[in-house]
Amino acid sequence: MLYIGVDLGTSAVKLLLMDEKGNIKNIVSKEYPLSFPKSGWSEQNPKHWYEESIEGIKELIASFDKGEIAGISFGGQMHGLVLLDENDNVIRPAILWNDGRTGKETDYLNQEIGTKNLSKYTANIAFAGFTAPKILWVKENEPENFDKINKIMLPKDYLAYRLSNTFCTDVSDASGTLLFDVKNKCWSKEMMDICEIKEEQLPKIFESYDVVGNLTSEVAGELGLSTDVKVIAGAGDNAAAAIGTGTVGDCRCNLSIGTSGTIFISSEKFGVDENNALHSFAHADGKYHLMGCMLSAGSCNKWWMEEILKTKEYDKELKEVKKLGENKVFFLPYLMGERSPHNNQDARACFIGMSMDTTRADMIQAVLEGVAFGLRDNLEVAKSLGMDIKSTKICGGGAKSDVWVKIIANVLNMDVERIEVEEGPALGAAMLAAVGCGEFEDVKEASDKIVKVVKTVGPDPKLVEKYDIAYEKFKNIYPTLKDLYTKLM
Ligand code: XUL
Repeated sequence: MLYIGVDLGTSAVKLLLMDEKGNIKNIVSKEYPLSFPKSGWSEQNPKHWYEESIEGIKELIASFDKGEIAGISFGGQMHGLVLLDENDNVIRPAILWNDGRTGKETDYLNQEIGTKNLSKYTANIAFAGFTAPKILWVKENEPENFDKINKIMLPKDYLAYRLSNTFCTDVSDASGTLLFDVKNKCWSKEMMDICEIKEEQLPKIFESYDVVGNLTSEVAGELGLSTDVKVIAGAGDNAAAAIGTGTVGDCRCNLSIGTSGTIFISSEKFGVDENNALHSFAHADGKYHLMGCMLSAGSCNKWWMEEILKTKEYDKELKEVKKLGENKVFFLPYLMGERSPHNNQDARACFIGMSMDTTRADMIQAVLEGVAFGLRDNLEVAKSLGMDIKSTKICGGGAKSDVWVKIIANVLNMDVERIEVEEGPALGAAMLAAVGCGEFEDVKEASDKIVKVVKTVGPDPKLVEKYDIAYEKFKNIYPTLKDLYTKLM
C-alpha cells in the first residue's frame, strides 16, 4: 500500500509518497507566498495551502496505481490561527507561528492571569506565537472578525477539514494553542473562558495516528482516488519530524533546522520545566515531549544569502566557511524576535565583532554559528533539568549542510545522527498515515522499522573547547542588548 505525508511548511508544502516498507516513492514541493504586513507580523492565506496541496498530491501520485493509496496524513506549521465563519469561509489571513504582534496579549496572559495559573491550566505559559494570544488580539483589534468566528483551527487541520469534512486536531498541535490541558489531553475550560470562546468553536481532539475520516467524494473525485482513502489526524511539524527521525521513547533528541530551529526531547511521561522556558507538549506517539523553539534558524541563512548577499549558490558560499572555532564575528539570530528561551518578541538580529579584516565567509559562518549557539541556549535549559542527552538526530534544510552539522555537533558537544531520509515532517506524516491504516502496531514499531541512521557526525574535543569559549561570549550579548531592544521598537 502507499501512504501520503503532507508537510505544510511556512514557505512550501512538501508531499511525500511512501510504501508500506518505508521506501520513498516520490517527493513534490509547492511554494506559496508568505506576507509580513508589518515588522514582526507574519500571515498566509489558507486557500493557498489547500490549492497547492491538491496540485502537489496530483503530481505526487500521477504515475502510481491510485488503488494502492490507503491513507494521508499531515505535519503542519504549528500555532497558526485559522478562523472560519458559519459558511466555512476563511475570515482573515492566518496569523502564523512566527508572528509577534501579540506582545500586549502575551503580557496580559503571563502577568494578569499569571504564569503559574497558565502552567496549571495548560502546562505552558504564553509566547507571542501561540494561538490563544492571537485570539485575544483579534477580539481586541478586529471585533467584527471575532464575532464571525464559527471554527478555530490550526493550519494542517484546515487541510484535514477540507479533505475529510471532519473538524479535528491532534494532541501535539493542540498543545501549542495554550488552550489545551496537555496533561489531561482536553481543552482547558479556564482558557476558553479567558479567551471568551466556546468548546463548539474548537476542533475535536484525536491522537496523531487516529483516523479522523475518509476523503470526501468531491476531493476523491478531483484527485482520482477512492473515498476509501483514510485521513489520519497528523501532528504539529516538530512532532511529525520527530517521528520521521525515530525520536520516540525516553530522552531522545531531534533537532530540526527549517525556517524555525527546534530542539525536541521525547519523554514517556508528562513533565513541565519549572520556568516554562521549554514547551511541554503531547507527542505524536501517544506520549509527551519538551521542546525549545527558535523562531529563525534556516531562515537566517536564507535571509543572509538570498536577501542580503543576493546569491542562491549555497554550496559555493559554504565551501569558504573554514575557520571553525576561530570566528571573531557573532550573530544573534532573532530576525523575528525570539521564542525559546528568551520569550521576547522585540528582540532583533545583529552582527557584532566585525573589523576591517572580516570576510564574507566570516559573516556567513557567524550566521550558522549564531543558530547553533541559540540551540545551545535551549540545550542548557534541558540540561539544567537533569536531562542527559548524549546524541541527537537532525532534520530540515539545515541538516543537508555538512559544515552546519559539524558546527552544531561541536557547539552542542554531542553526536549528531543523520537519517537516510531527511524529510522529517513529511516522512513522519506518512508514517502516521501507515500506523492509522493498521500497517504497524504503533508509532514505535513504524519508527524501528523505517528510520535508518546513515551517518554520525561526532564532536572534536579541540573544537568543542573553542566553541565553549565562544559560547560564553555569545551568552553575554543578548542580556547586554535586551533593554535596548525595547527602546528600538
Ligand atoms: C514550534 C514552532 C515552529 C513551527 C514551524 O513551536 O512554532 O517550529 O511549527 O513550522
